[in-house]
Amino acid sequence: MTSPAADFAPFSKTHLLGISDLSPLDIENLLDRANAWADRNALPDNKHAILRGRTHINLFFEASTRTQSSFEIAGKRLGADVMNMSVSQSSVKKGETLLDTAVTLNAMRPDLLVVRHHGSGAVELLARKVANCAVINAGDGSHEHPTQALLDALTIRRHKGRVQGLRVAICGDIAHSRVARSNILSLSALGAEVHLIGPATLMPPAIERMGVKVFRSMEEGLEGCDVIMMLRLQRERMSGAYVPSSREFFHYYGLDAKRLARAKPDALVMHPGPMNRGVEIDSVVADGEQSVIRDQVEMGVAVRMAVLEALAENLDRTKDNRKPGE
Ligand code: NCD
Repeated sequence: MTSPAADFAPFSKTHLLGISDLSPLDIENLLDRANAWADRNALPDNKHAILRGRTHINLFFEASTRTQSSFEIAGKRLGADVMNMSVSQSSVKKGETLLDTAVTLNAMRPDLLVVRHHGSGAVELLARKVANCAVINAGDGSHEHPTQALLDALTIRRHKGRVQGLRVAICGDIAHSRVARSNILSLSALGAEVHLIGPATLMPPAIERMGVKVFRSMEEGLEGCDVIMMLRLQRERMSGAYVPSSREFFHYYGLDAKRLARAKPDALVMHPGPMNRGVEIDSVVADGEQSVIRDQVEMGVAVRMAVLEALAENLDRTKDNRKPGE
């Protein structure tokens, strides 16, 4: 089976470090490609040879189940040789720096490198140090998680037919969330109206400058929304007490059926996972008819296939420019 890529304009970037580097056209390009992959993935024959002979390394400095396996499936479906490298905290503690890691990686000659790191900006730093390799940010600290925002946009587009003009609420722990940041950037670029809802302690200062509306109350912020994105309370990124208790957080900011009724009757309920049931979302809503959480996981594979494919095309161009033997 051939690649649907022939139908799309070339993607203009060498790496995918954040939504902030992308124009609305770049985002649409990746979404169109991912949409084609989502259709193809539903067919019985979903193994392709586009990345045959390519080495794809998943380098994860933070534990991850769904993102890492999603990238792994995406790489394998496209025929790449996929290797998972989980860098435990122990080797970081032993003194290995990010630059040491880059030297090790360069010796392995990967073509595609997917990186998750606890430090904001660490993936970009690594991208500057690796040679002839496309780097994809799979989440850096509380900075960006671009493929999550793309899969969220694709899920919305496939359910609603568009993103433009929709009202989308992002709720909960905005301050520690790379998912929120990447989504604010991509949803705004695609023409949605973004509401952020959360307590003052979990809202980044001056966030209104990103063109969003900020609400302290779920009841007000959810009014007339087409999409509700819930976020996990990121306790591992909090030093000190940002919320009094999980019970109190649910009381004020949890999504239950009563609050959901404030949004449009056909509003979509989303969550990037992993969910804390009973903390940010009630099980009845998470498993209810309006929930598209399972679709998000499915779109994740399609988006990652699109990103790997788009970046690999540029890799070819760079490699074609090299002299023989280089
Ligand atoms: C998110 C992440 O790791 O940033 N999860 C994910 O990518 N599946 C959100 C989270 O951890 O809460």
